[in-house]
Amino acid sequence: MKLIVVAESAEVAVSGADLVCDYVAKTTSPVLGVATGGSVVGLYRELAQRHARKEISFGATRAFLLDEYVGLGADHPQSYRQFIRDHLSTQLDLHDDCVFGLNGTTADFDAEALHYERLLDKHRVGLQIVGIGRNGHLAFNEPGSSLASRTRVLPLSAQTRRDNARFFDRSENVPSFVLTQGIGTILQAARIVLVASGAHKSTALARALEGPVGSRVPASALQLHADVVVVADAEAASELTIGDLPFEAVPAGRPFVTTR
Ligand code: GLP
Repeated sequence: MKLIVVAESAEVAVSGADLVCDYVAKTTSPVLGVATGGSVVGLYRELAQRHARKEISFGATRAFLLDEYVGLGADHPQSYRQFIRDHLSTQLDLHDDCVFGLNGTTADFDAEALHYERLLDKHRVGLQIVGIGRNGHLAFNEPGSSLASRTRVLPLSAQTRRDNARFFDRSENVPSFVLTQGIGTILQAARIVLVASGAHKSTALARALEGPVGSRVPASALQLHADVVVVADAEAASELTIGDLPFEAVPAGRPFVTTR
C-alpha cells in the first residue's frame, strides 16, 4: 500500500488526478471505477480542467459506478448516475453510453446484480476510485458487510442516511436501500485509489488502514489488496501512525509519500 499525505484537500484532487491520468494515458482501453460523494468532486473538477487544456482524453475509457440508490432512476437529480454525468462525463469526452451503473428502479435486484457482476467480469476495472464513509463503509458496503460480498441490495445505516441527507431537499427523501458492488467485487480492480479529506474522516481512515481487518470496518479489506494508493490530506491522515511524522507539518506542494 502506498500512502500519499498532502497538506490540504486541493492537493488530494491533484495527486488523485495524476494517478487517474497516468493510468488512462498508458492504457489502450481504460476501465475506470468511479465513486460518488463529496470526496471526489475536486478530483473530477481537476480531471475536467486537464481535459479542457487538452492534456488528457477519455475517449477510449469505459466507466463503472460503484453503487446506486434503490428507487431513483438514472435521470433522477440525486441518482449516482446523474452525479457522474454532472461532475464527470459531461465535463470530459467520456460518452454517456460508455458509463455503466446499477439500475435503481429494477424490479429484480438479484438479476440486476448478476448482470452487473458479469459486465465487470468482462471489463475488468483497471483503476478504481473510492472514498470512505465516516463509519468505514466502502461504496455502500455498510459495517457488517462480508469482505467477500458481491453486488447486491442492502439497507443503509442511519449514519449514512444522515451523512448523505445534504444532497437531498429533505432528509426523509434519502432512500433506505441501495444497490452496491460488494467488497469482493471492488477488490477485483487491478488498482484502487482511495481519496480522503478532512478531520471527519481521520478515525475511519486509521481504522481502515491500521485496525483489524474485518466486516465492522468494510474499508479495512483494502489491507488485503496488493495495489492500493491512499491519498489523504493532513487532517484525514492525522490519526495514522507512521514513525513520528507530524502530519500537520506536511508542507504545501510537497507530498509525504511512503509505502507500508
Ligand atoms: C457515499 C458513497 C461512497 C462514498 C462515501 C463517502 O455514501 N456511497 O462511495 O465514498 O459515502 O462520501 P463523501 O465523499 O461524500 O464523504
